[in-house]
Amino acid sequence: MTNPIAAIILAAGMGTRMKSDLHKVLHPIAGRPMLLHLIDNVRVLDPERIVVVAGARREQVEAAVTPLGVEVAIQAEQLGTGHAVRQAEAALSGFDGDVLILYGDVPLVSTATMARMVERLHSDGEPSVVVLGFRPADAAAYGRVIADRDGRIAKIVEYKDASADERAVTLCNSGLMAVRSADLFRLLAQVTNDNAVGEYYLTDLAELAVKDGRGAVVVETAADEVAGVNSRAELAAVDASWQAKRRVEAMAEGATLVDPATVWFSFDTKVGRDVLIEPNVFFGPGVSIADGATIRGFSHIEGATIGSGAEVGPYARLRPGAVLGEKSKVGNFVEVKKAVLGKGAKANHLTYLGDAEIGAGANIGAGTITCNYDGFFKYKTVIGEGAFVGSNSALVAPVTIGAGAIVGAGSTVTKDVEADALRLVRPEQQTKSGWAKRFREMMTAKKAAK
Ligand code: UD1
Ligand code: CA
Repeated sequence: MTNPIAAIILAAGMGTRMKSDLHKVLHPIAGRPMLLHLIDNVRVLDPERIVVVAGARREQVEAAVTPLGVEVAIQAEQLGTGHAVRQAEAALSGFDGDVLILYGDVPLVSTATMARMVERLHSDGEPSVVVLGFRPADAAAYGRVIADRDGRIAKIVEYKDASADERAVTLCNSGLMAVRSADLFRLLAQVTNDNAVGEYYLTDLAELAVKDGRGAVVVETAADEVAGVNSRAELAAVDASWQAKRRVEAMAEGATLVDPATVWFSFDTKVGRDVLIEPNVFFGPGVSIADGATIRGFSHIEGATIGSGAEVGPYARLRPGAVLGEKSKVGNFVEVKKAVLGKGAKANHLTYLGDAEIGAGANIGAGTITCNYDGFFKYKTVIGEGAFVGSNSALVAPVTIGAGAIVGAGSTVTKDVEADALRLVRPEQQTKSGWAKRFREMMTAKKAAK
């Protein structure tokens, strides 16, 4: 791409149908606000400026995008898409290049499609306006693109303003456009609100570009790429379409998904080769899985680094800061938080490991709990290489179990254990011969006498 690029992202809509206190464009897709997906995609084109046009709840939008160096322009009153774009004029002053107009609630538009729109501005006839069109299964109330077979647009007509013939057109306007900065605000200044709803339509740019000489053209894309989010149901549909694509990608990169539709990725999940993921697994943000690891069914995993050949689950819960070494094992009903398991370390059943360091080859018995919290502060448990912690042990942190040490089953360990020692915390066991039999006979007699 030779020309400088800027993007204007419209996000001043009220989002009423979401019925939410959160701004619509900040609702997450795969764990990341939809607006940031869009910004990620446009950033690949290395834009000089990105301006988000916001209205109500603009402070939420500002908090999300200001750290990314993205500007926010304000549209105080929603007077239409054309009016919204004009609000970005000041933020783009001095910019000379190609402007992409995007919608914050149409989050999955790919970088390739954006690039195609911008490139079209500079090919065949160098049109003033490039419109992104699509052909949905149900054209519903979308604006219709009236164009010839070569994609040269005569006009875009809003559904409410359209004749029966125009409504029969299947090519719809996604709303997204590419326009040279030199044309954009000059043509926008000519847009009026003389239409069915009294709004300033961005779509009027097409007809104005025709009158202006160089005209407008449409480029088409698949309907699912420009699916918008207006309701929670549409949010779920867009998330599902993101997930479907990601699953195919993970498999193409060499992971086996036994039942792809039941694996939920995050925007940033990293999956290696020869990774096996069983059904019903959920990934929150910040997970990476090295080559050859196995994630068994019904596991919930976030903020975790899973080493090569490691085994997780079924029914495992990995929380932020879980780091699983090569060939380590975290089995069923085990929760791991901010804990590092060394190479080959195992916690196979019913365990909580929090704020812990577990050495290579250590074996953590069923039902072991690191007692890391006293109601006020968190404390660390350190378990040395090759240590063996017997079942149902409570390790009261801060505490260190030395390398090669053995903790007897059922121990509550409150003091450090030296390397290679045995720690046994158990009362002496008593036996009273025949006591149970005598007890039963006495109680049976009592009951019979009643
Ligand atoms: C618009 C298009 C229509 C297209 C449809 C695709 C116009 C006139 N019509 O329809 O041809 O088929 O998108 O979904 O452009 N927005 C603002 N400020 C406003 C109005 C809208 O920021 O004053 C933002 C909204 O937040 C949203 C986007 O612009 O992100 C589109 O607004 P919306 O009301 O959904 O578009 P329509 O007018 O229905
Ligand atoms: Ca709409």
